[in-house]
Amino acid sequence: MARVFSGIQPSGDVHLGNYLGAIRRWVEEQPPAGSEAALRRDAIHCVVDLHAMTVPYVPAEMASRTLALATLLMAAGLEPDRSLLFVQSHVRAHAELTWILNSVATFGELNRMTQFKEKSGGQESVSAGLFDYPVLMAADILLYDTDEVPVGDDQRQHIELARDIAIRFNHRFGKTFVVPKGTYAEVAARVMDLQNPTRKMSKSEESPQGTILVLDPPKLIEKKIKSAVTDSGTDVRYDPAEKPGVSNLLEIYAATSGTPISKAEIEFEGAGYGKFKQAVADAVIECVRPVQERYAALEADPGEVDRRLLRGAEEADAKAEEVMARATRAAGLLPRPR
Ligand code: AMP
Ligand code: TRP
Repeated sequence: MARVFSGIQPSGDVHLGNYLGAIRRWVEEQPPAGSEAALRRDAIHCVVDLHAMTVPYVPAEMASRTLALATLLMAAGLEPDRSLLFVQSHVRAHAELTWILNSVATFGELNRMTQFKEKSGGQESVSAGLFDYPVLMAADILLYDTDEVPVGDDQRQHIELARDIAIRFNHRFGKTFVVPKGTYAEVAARVMDLQNPTRKMSKSEESPQGTILVLDPPKLIEKKIKSAVTDSGTDVRYDPAEKPGVSNLLEIYAATSGTPISKAEIEFEGAGYGKFKQAVADAVIECVRPVQERYAALEADPGEVDRRLLRGAEEADAKAEEVMARATRAAGLLPRPR
């Protein structure tokens, strides 16, 4: 099995885009318990709190958000005997390798990152960390000899950069890193905002009505979907350019009900938007229900999450140290005398 690594930021609440584009795939791709791959910890998932520090945030909320996100990932089905789950800041090597890779990444390539341009645009103060964010992400990935990185479509450019950095480092210093590749969902790799279907659904608090949170109560999910922006006309047809709202709902329906889009189009032929939206709402509610139930159970037992994160940090640390030693040696740094 390929070594899989992915990360998610503890900034804002987890939404349906995160779940369908990334988290659910992490859960599905875990190796079976007891298998060689599970014992090797070939599925690794990380709550990337250092990434969340690159934009303004409330310090008093960071720890609880990090814990809540780890709890949600466990509730979604990342199981202790099948995957390794940890918090980025608990493993020092992430920040250390970032520094080494900073000398390999170039200003020019970072300056071309569209996510940086989006996040920095219009801000009066932009942190150096926000600019360097993709290098930290490359360090996350390269530290674990990762083959595959399951992410949403919005991360393509960052994954390409991580590949370029690995290839350049290997070329300059000798073969050190595995060169990773991104993997993307077949449907719902980019879930769009329900109120503005030409922009992606995101954690930003700007569009609460357009964003479905995984922990939203069923009634609220239904309400948000029913008030989703559709298009003039009445036919339920997949056409992202002409009918972005309906197409987004079709993708959400396909991803949550397991019905292919082409079948869904036939299913809702002549049904009208009202009936279609009700079916989408029901499918989404059913899809997140088990996650919500397990979340409530885990929340009542925080010790379980703590134990998981302790073990995760220890295991990740040990793996990262090996790769870190390889990288510092390759880069020519003097080994610490002992
Ligand atoms: P983030 O919330 O930025 O830490 O993203 C966590 C994961 O969710 C990443 O793999 C993203 O690519 C993915 N993701 C974020 N927004 C969406 C979206 N609207 N549709 C699909 N995937 C998404
Ligand atoms: N930048 C990613 C996002 O916003 C999160 C992330 C950080 C990540 N490090 C990673 C994803 C490593 C995959 C692998 O979604």
